[in-house]
Amino acid sequence: VTATWRDVEDDVRALLAGTGVDDPAHDARRIVEQASGWDGAELVVHADEHAVARAHEAALALAERRSTGEPLQYVIGRWGFRTLDLMVDRRVLIPRPETEVVAGIAIDALAGLGRDGVVVDLGTGSGAIALAVVAERWPHVEVWASDASPDALAVARANLAGLGRRGAAARIVEGDWYDALPDALRGRVDVIVSNPPYVAANEVLPLAVADWEPAAALVSGPTGLEAIERVVAGAHEWLTDAGTLVVEIGETQGDAVLTLATDAGFATARIAPDLTGRDRVLVATWAAGRPTRG
Ligand SMILES: C[S@@+](CC[C@H](N)C(=O)[O-])C[C@H]1O[C@@H](n2cnc3c(N)ncnc32)[C@H](O)[C@@H]1O
Repeated sequence: VTATWRDVEDDVRALLAGTGVDDPAHDARRIVEQASGWDGAELVVHADEHAVARAHEAALALAERRSTGEPLQYVIGRWGFRTLDLMVDRRVLIPRPETEVVAGIAIDALAGLGRDGVVVDLGTGSGAIALAVVAERWPHVEVWASDASPDALAVARANLAGLGRRGAAARIVEGDWYDALPDALRGRVDVIVSNPPYVAANEVLPLAVADWEPAAALVSGPTGLEAIERVVAGAHEWLTDAGTLVVEIGETQGDAVLTLATDAGFATARIAPDLTGRDRVLVATWAAGRPTRG
């Protein structure tokens, strides 16, 4: 007897149960969605129809991968970020909810300009922040996305292609932090946004992160602040006088990062919380406020 889609989902859930997966029902649903090509609502409608045998096998193969501890996002090869459905695999960090907040602050800063804006996303990975900015600000934006990892940039390019003609608003460039940018951008950037690696080398990460995600996307160096320091110190050369720097940070790094920003000469610097109230974002403006005194 051929299995129905409901049977396939049951098989996947049974395969995942007891393997250490937190929520087998949720992951089974996402895996069957991926293997069937249907979304959750469609799956409900078609639950009692016979499943395509190849999709059944594909779902079980994905479940086998998930059962070894591979993150669901890599198994299904995609993940949502703000309005986007991004392709993700082991070449890139899995986009996180706190980074959606970081992207939102950058988008709000651009909206506040009252004109078209220029943005740089340093360490773009999957392209999450840069492409969210394009999706939400097009056609009023020019975006430069950089990364030192050619592997990550291959994923970012695939995701850029998914934006269709809006993708022409973004340029993807390879290199070490600001070295990747063309000189012509100096002094022209309205918003620099970055989610750099900010984990210290001796910090213990959850196994699912340490075993699967790229170390170069996570670990910065002995203190964890090395990459943030580079991003903060270099920003002024590229920002307009009223430009804004938005940087994701670790929850214990707020005080150290505020000092870095003030020492670098930023006129204003504050730490914004993520959705769970943790200190997770540096927001600094170069000269805002200075001319308005008195
Ligand atoms: C925490 S991940 C962020 C990825 C993506 N922006 C996101 O938020 O999901 C940090 C990114 O910085 C990149 N990176 C690490 N060292 C770099 C360097 N020296 N110059 C440029 N990018 C670098 C990594 O390859 C990685 O893609």
